[in-house]
Amino acid sequence: MLLETTALTKHFGGLTAVSHVDMSIKEGQIVGLIGPNGAGKTTLINLISGFLRPTSGRITFDGHDITGKKPHLQARMGMGRTFQITPFFGEFSTFKNLVASFYLSSDRGLWGPIFNTPGYRRKEAAILKQAEENMELVGLGKVRDELAKNLPHGYQKVLDLAAALAINPKLLLLDEPIGGMSQDETDLALSAIRRVHAQGTTIMIVEHNISIVMSLCDHIIVINYGEKIAEGAPEEIRNNPEVIRAYFGGEYAA
Ligand SMILES: Nc1ncnc2c1ncn2[C@@H]1O[C@H](COP(=O)(O)OP(=O)(O)OP(=O)(O)O)[C@@H](O)[C@H]1O
Ligand SMILES: [Mg+2]
Repeated sequence: MLLETTALTKHFGGLTAVSHVDMSIKEGQIVGLIGPNGAGKTTLINLISGFLRPTSGRITFDGHDITGKKPHLQARMGMGRTFQITPFFGEFSTFKNLVASFYLSSDRGLWGPIFNTPGYRRKEAAILKQAEENMELVGLGKVRDELAKNLPHGYQKVLDLAAALAINPKLLLLDEPIGGMSQDETDLALSAIRRVHAQGTTIMIVEHNISIVMSLCDHIIVINYGEKIAEGAPEEIRNNPEVIRAYFGGEYAA
């Protein structure tokens, strides 16, 4: 297993946002994480990526216990993520944002430019090349020199996805990477996600549109009120009465 959580739990004061979740992700999978608003999806991603400390439970990633480890340490091990609200440098072009993503994810990025060493110059050339490759992989080549603040919403989210590739993630956690997009933007984002997956990155994606999740994912995990209520292949999830109840309050099932 690439990722495994055991009885993972998070309380916020009296509220249990994530409750005893056991889940696992195999290398190469593309896993959908679904559930109604407030179910605990973002909290689960924040726990796994180290942005929140669990109240109890354990997380192992790539053979290591990472429970309570800080986000930058997890990133170094190959855990990447995007956010429900997209951060980017508005005054930078698409390409410059992607170059910046490498410096932000690097431990010693600032010293090289100051001393302008040969080692730095070699590294910089490699970064420019890799930024270009990530940009092409997600299909943003056509907006290479546009300022990020002028990009349509969907393109900004795809830019965030491409920036998350700078750490060369083994596992990429995507929190609503397709939220609020037009049809064209959705197509762009879906093909970007498919291509990132195809070149070897394991993915877990939070997405509200069930038909997109069904067509994209090979395994789906459903949470409701912080608890895992179902998991399985898309077909099993589609026909699971508890999932139908969680989404339609029983009316649909009746
Ligand atoms: N920092 C926090 N402090 C207190 N309560 C929080 C905090 N973060 C989340 N919660 C609560 O935890 C529960 C789960 O929230 P979470 O954001 O994980 O849900 P979600 O499944 O991502 O929802 P959505 O689909 O709306 O994004 C909610 O009741 C939310 O109000
Ligand atoms: Mg959320």
